[in-house]
Amino acid sequence: MVTKVVTMTEEKLDEAAIEEAGRILRAGGLVAFPTETVYGLGGDALQGTSSQKIYAAKGRPSDNPLIVHVCDMKDVDYIVKKIPESALKLAEAFWPGPLTMIMEKSEVVPKETTGGLDTVAIRMPENKIALAMIRAAGGYIAAPSANTSGRPSPTKAEHVVEDMDGKIEMIIDGGDVGIGLESTIVDLTEEEPIILRPGYITQEMLTEALKRDVAMDKTILDANSKQAPKAPGMKYRHYAPKADLTIFTGNTEDVTRQICALIDADKKKGKKVGVICTDETKSFYQQADLIESVGSRTDTKAIAHSLFAILRDFDKKDVSVIYSEAFSKKGIGQAIMNRLLKAAGHHVIEVTQIEEER
Ligand code: TXA
Ligand code: MG
Repeated sequence: MVTKVVTMTEEKLDEAAIEEAGRILRAGGLVAFPTETVYGLGGDALQGTSSQKIYAAKGRPSDNPLIVHVCDMKDVDYIVKKIPESALKLAEAFWPGPLTMIMEKSEVVPKETTGGLDTVAIRMPENKIALAMIRAAGGYIAAPSANTSGRPSPTKAEHVVEDMDGKIEMIIDGGDVGIGLESTIVDLTEEEPIILRPGYITQEMLTEALKRDVAMDKTILDANSKQAPKAPGMKYRHYAPKADLTIFTGNTEDVTRQICALIDADKKKGKKVGVICTDETKSFYQQADLIESVGSRTDTKAIAHSLFAILRDFDKKDVSVIYSEAFSKKGIGQAIMNRLLKAAGHHVIEVTQIEEER
């Protein structure tokens, strides 16, 4: 299949291309598109065969459900049994935006889209290209992140081309995404709302909007939990670069010293070494073969924005080991560390006792 790539911006939509994307989706084809979080790989959410094609293009296990993207609150009714009161409040506070809510699904949503579950994940993205496409497609686009399963989510159209060229009908290049990490997922099907995946919308923001405690799924807090995570996708090793990645926690001085010692030892063995660090520390690692700074330690938004692109970059320059500093878990830092820990297969070395504020 030849994949057509079309470029546009949110400020200047290419209406003809949007119409074409809508036609492709309604006919059961696939179109990748930008959202404010990461690029999505879209198919018509109400056609089971479209969802099957999404799983095939990603090489994703079909028990891992997709998020249904909508462009209008009025469209949510049709795909759920009942909209919970809490969903109305959260939609009011955070939609359109980087929040996905899990609700009981109605009959019209095929099991292929929900990976066999009776619940459906729903998000209204903020990106104007995404919203126009959803409208053109008839209102419901199922879209996982547009990466090959297991690779870091795409934050630039070129990442999507790397993974999806020749496998889907069309890619819409809308430039770099704004946030760079996938949406927060909150499950509203139980008595208590539970965060299944941390993201830009933090636990504190959800608690504040609902005026009640919002818990974090236990498997996110405890990497060694034997329990299966409630978001099936969270159980897979994810975002993983090809080289072995180890994270070092502790105070910055001890961490940099430890990483430098390891680099020296690895270089003597002839290994190529990469380092993930910050603007404040990058000058310490001159001996490494590839030094990638996520930005300033204090700028968590910049870290979120650069993390996936950096992980992809390491695959292109063939380093055999990667050492990464740990970052603050405050605010969106919780989502950053969640993704980084998954990328490292939870391989963490505690150099000194963790200090939350560094
Ligand atoms: O920001 C995002 O959410 C991006 C953009 C494209 O919108 N999409 C995204 O989709 O990250 P994906 O498929 O890569 O991640 C969806 C996650 C998976 O971990 C999946 O298991 C979980 O959502 N999920 C989907 N439906 C679910 C459901 N009914 N119950 C529990 N978890 C669900
Ligand atoms: Mg994904």
